[in-house]
Amino acid sequence: MRSNAQLAEFHDHAPQEDSFRDAVLEGLARSRKAIPCRFLYDARGSALFDEICRVPEYYPTRTELRILEDRAGEIAALIGPHCQLIEFGSGSSIKVRTLLDALDADAYVPVDISRDHLRRAADDLAADFPNLDVVAICADYHHPFRLPSRPVRGRRFGFFPGSTIGNFEPDEAVDFLAMCADLLGDGGAMLVGIDLKKDAAILDAAYDDAAGVTAKFSLNLLARANRELGADFDITRFAHDAHYEEGAGRVEIYIRSLVHQKVIIAGRRFHLAQGERIHTEYSYKYTIPEFRDLARSAGFRPTMSWTDADDLFSVHYLETGG
Ligand code: TRP
Repeated sequence: MRSNAQLAEFHDHAPQEDSFRDAVLEGLARSRKAIPCRFLYDARGSALFDEICRVPEYYPTRTELRILEDRAGEIAALIGPHCQLIEFGSGSSIKVRTLLDALDADAYVPVDISRDHLRRAADDLAADFPNLDVVAICADYHHPFRLPSRPVRGRRFGFFPGSTIGNFEPDEAVDFLAMCADLLGDGGAMLVGIDLKKDAAILDAAYDDAAGVTAKFSLNLLARANRELGADFDITRFAHDAHYEEGAGRVEIYIRSLVHQKVIIAGRRFHLAQGERIHTEYSYKYTIPEFRDLARSAGFRPTMSWTDADDLFSVHYLETGG
């Protein structure tokens, strides 16, 4: 048994209203159907995402981890002692362990929308790092949230790995980073992992693996609607559809209807034509100069940018003003 001292403190700021229901009903009523990607990460979706991170075609996770392992000492030297490490969308809190091993951090603040997943990950981490003050915040990090009211001796240090910044439209990515800069304050720093532009074949495989784990993750959105909203999606009549659009510089992810069909959700009827797509996510890819420009537009000063030997993925160290 763990003692209480080793459990994470937990703050719940998650939206209480029925936002998944509203998003599905509103998104499917549009002429170009869409369901926002944040709803992919319920408990089942979060577990499937962890599985995606282990399929051979999905290189971003292991490549980023390798860069972090190689650079952890350098990053720790840049950050200095007694930092408060804030992770946006912490998921299973796996990558951050590499940083925490090297950093002299006083506090770790994981922020995630997936409540139970967050609680478990934060408690495990608190048990493994007994000297670390772990304060979990269950919140949608896309919107401003309040940090724990603790004095911070060193820097505030934001961590946003996983190329999740690529899931924003570029202008939204700038707004999000500007909000982070604000939250971190003067003297703050941020580490962002972002996937690099590359050959379409590598990207197409990464977002549609042969074992079908990504397809399962994608279609879990419909399964979730069945579970939570009593929808009657027949999952076998839909397919995962992901491909890299070179011109737009992004992987586009959809759920495609294989037949003409109707679905009933909360008493509302929706029609899908054969081949009609429900958009779920974009994953924008950047070159290193493109990403550094984006960070500058948000008011950050990009100092270091690291990549792997094959130029698959990049990790950027950004400083706030002051
Ligand atoms: N941040 C991840 C990425 O853009 C998310 C992701 C990976 C994803 N595979 C996916 C989202 C498949 C939807 C479907 O790489």
